[in-house]
Amino acid sequence: MKGIILAGGNATRLRPCTEITSKQLLPVYNRPMIYYPLNTLIKAGIEDILIIVAPDYAEKFLHLLGSGEKFGIKISYKVQETPRGLADAFIIGDGFIGNDNVTMILGDNIFEDDLSEHIKNFTGGGKVFAKKVSDPERFGVVRFDESMKADTIIEKPSEWISDYALTGVYIFDSRVIEVARSVKPSARGEIEIVDLHNWYLEQNELEVAMITGAWLDAGTFDSYLEAQILAKEKLQDKMVI
Ligand code: TTP
Repeated sequence: MKGIILAGGNATRLRPCTEITSKQLLPVYNRPMIYYPLNTLIKAGIEDILIIVAPDYAEKFLHLLGSGEKFGIKISYKVQETPRGLADAFIIGDGFIGNDNVTMILGDNIFEDDLSEHIKNFTGGGKVFAKKVSDPERFGVVRFDESMKADTIIEKPSEWISDYALTGVYIFDSRVIEVARSVKPSARGEIEIVDLHNWYLEQNELEVAMITGAWLDAGTFDSYLEAQILAKEKLQDKMVI
């Protein structure tokens, strides 16, 4: 299992704080934000991690994390020239993934749950994680049928289909590279990760697990503040780095 942290993007919603630095380098209580997704991957035993960064801040990530040796892992880096969409992680990471399975996590996503068993027990197909939220229109949303099997996944649905958002951690087998390459940009000009989910859903190979603990994407000032409180009150004893 390889790991990718997608840590580029423009972070326009956190301006002016992100005018001169990357969102994923901002402090979340006592650690830079990227430490939280790194912890999620390291706890699951992943030892080979690619961090995808925006061009302006590449050297800062390198300065902070280096080769990964100090954490007992190997970290490599790639630059995403422009934020083309979440599915781009698998195109940028193609050579890194090779024929292995991959867990991709967004650099601003903070989980209370330990996802280690899901990651360690993954054998193939795709696995994504849902969480009930009050504002599903902000996320990729999954609807379940009567037997709680996923039947529809839509990015930021304009009409309500379900309260279950897909969180920012995704496990795929290496076929994801070719699927990502075949995705056409959406109306907002991004190659959407929901198109990858829907491909695996069509093959009947997408599993959706539930997140039971807290989950935040620290992308707005309110969720960033909530992330700091979560980190202080609930995550300190769960961190391995
Ligand atoms: P978003 O929060 O969707 O985008 P953003 O971080 O650029 O913020 P804003 O919407 O405020 O402008 O991105 C989610 C995560 O994925 C975040 O950690 C940045 C990362 N990302 C990339 O690295 N590359 C991309 O092409 C996109 C779309 C996001």
